[in-house]
Amino acid sequence: MPDNNPNLLSVLCKNNSNPQEPTLADLFEDQPQRFQHFSKHWQQMLFDYSRTGLTSARLDSLLQLVDESGLEKWRRRLLTGEEVNTSEGRSADHCLMRTTKPEDSANILGLVIQVQRAEMLTLGASLYQGILPGYSKAITDVIHLGIGGSVLGPQLVLEALQGTNSGTVRVHFLSSADGWQVSALMAKLDPQSTAVIVVSKSFSTKEVKLNLQRLRQWLSTAEQGDATEQLIAVTSDYARAQAAGFSQQNILLFPESIGGRYSLWSAVGLPIVIRYGEAVYLELLAGAEQMDKHFSEAATENNLPVLAALVTIWHRNICNFPAVAVVAYDSRLRLLPAWLQQLDMESAGKSVDRQGQPLQHPAAPIIFGGSGTEVQHAFFQALYQGMDTIPVEFIGVICNDSELPANKSHNRFQLANLIGQADALAFTQQSSDTAESTNADPHRQFAGNCPSSVVMLDSLNANSLGQLLAFYEHRIFVQSIIWGNNPFDQFGVEFGKHTASEVEDFLRVKGASKTGCKPAELNSLREWVAERLD
Ligand code: F6P
Repeated sequence: MPDNNPNLLSVLCKNNSNPQEPTLADLFEDQPQRFQHFSKHWQQMLFDYSRTGLTSARLDSLLQLVDESGLEKWRRRLLTGEEVNTSEGRSADHCLMRTTKPEDSANILGLVIQVQRAEMLTLGASLYQGILPGYSKAITDVIHLGIGGSVLGPQLVLEALQGTNSGTVRVHFLSSADGWQVSALMAKLDPQSTAVIVVSKSFSTKEVKLNLQRLRQWLSTAEQGDATEQLIAVTSDYARAQAAGFSQQNILLFPESIGGRYSLWSAVGLPIVIRYGEAVYLELLAGAEQMDKHFSEAATENNLPVLAALVTIWHRNICNFPAVAVVAYDSRLRLLPAWLQQLDMESAGKSVDRQGQPLQHPAAPIIFGGSGTEVQHAFFQALYQGMDTIPVEFIGVICNDSELPANKSHNRFQLANLIGQADALAFTQQSSDTAESTNADPHRQFAGNCPSSVVMLDSLNANSLGQLLAFYEHRIFVQSIIWGNNPFDQFGVEFGKHTASEVEDFLRVKGASKTGCKPAELNSLREWVAERLD
């Protein structure tokens, strides 16, 4: 019997056929202390799940579900380096990557990680000073080239820590394959004082290779030749990086068992060291390690990633809400929704379980979102009066670290909107007076009862950010234990890349010559486009 006994979740769905009753307004009216009972404060994080339909009885059932789905077993396998990536026969060692002393781990990989981290920190410390070993000129700018998990994490961290004291070397992120981003960077940077970090676990991603080709030409000059000294590779595939012409001392490695979307804690985090220094990078890892310890040791009823996962299960599977909006009310976290989109939808955007059997219940919800209050002026209308109930995940920061007296009013405004929106979405605005409601203008009716959760950070710093990101990594892991899917593979994306390659070949050659075309390729969009490409 597979761990994720689908019947347990089916029983829960059956036993909660009317999950949006009692309403959130009723729940708060019946239990004025609801916030105290349905929120947890741990270190620098508060998780408030009071504006959900969870009651003590419902939560008890969900806690039983996660225990009987194999939480203890799978958590132990994850944290001890056993196989958890069942379709690829691998462990998932992102927690080991952020262990303070990986060499002390029972897992032999800890020694490898210690060496890889030391090499990364050495190069990072040098580049923090603007010095690139083997290159004679000072470095003023670094281009971090990568896509997906090879760029989203580092870019999010650099933006989130923008109030932190930094070095002078500027870091620029490049991910788009359309040419505009790389052209703009080359136009404003000096090739003589720029280093390029090519981050690609597989070292075969086409977008990365396309941009690398442009950058290599840009860096190469008559006197310097092919600019190998200015190129750094961060990858799991040493052979491919070497074959691509990278010098041995400029190749930083991380283990094959680190998934791309879980790779921030490896050499992929190099730009964090370059921009903010080694101490800040290690503080980020320390925060994540503290969350690992909490996840490993806290009882399920007090375990933040477990509670957050159960809120998702309640909304996705019992309430049948297909989407969730993630809204960060601090512009330093504007990239969090995009990072979370990949983490959750690439980990649990699946339809079969670990045994290859069809999932009995839908897994990852559709994640979208943005920054508050901007998105209040974008999609919040649909949250208030649309036909779908879309739960919201609010993230806020109480003490704005870069706070100057002038910022206090901004920070207060942000927090007031976060809380105000959560309350307005949850609680019906109109009085219950029948006479008044029948006369009320139907265009001005607000159903309320829209659930939300709130993650509130005491302040945004390397430590609390590490806690937050690890919290989400463990949340999707727990959700996947219940759904039964493998959160560590992503064959769907690989398939999509293959089709794109075929079309690229058509646009490059066959579209022009029309020779060797398949019937499906003619009178098609690809032919229409091919005819217009010069
Ligand atoms: O989106 C698929 C994926 O493999 C991600 O998992 C990964 O983060 C991204 O592409 C980039 O892959 P690579 O680091 O191998 O270039």
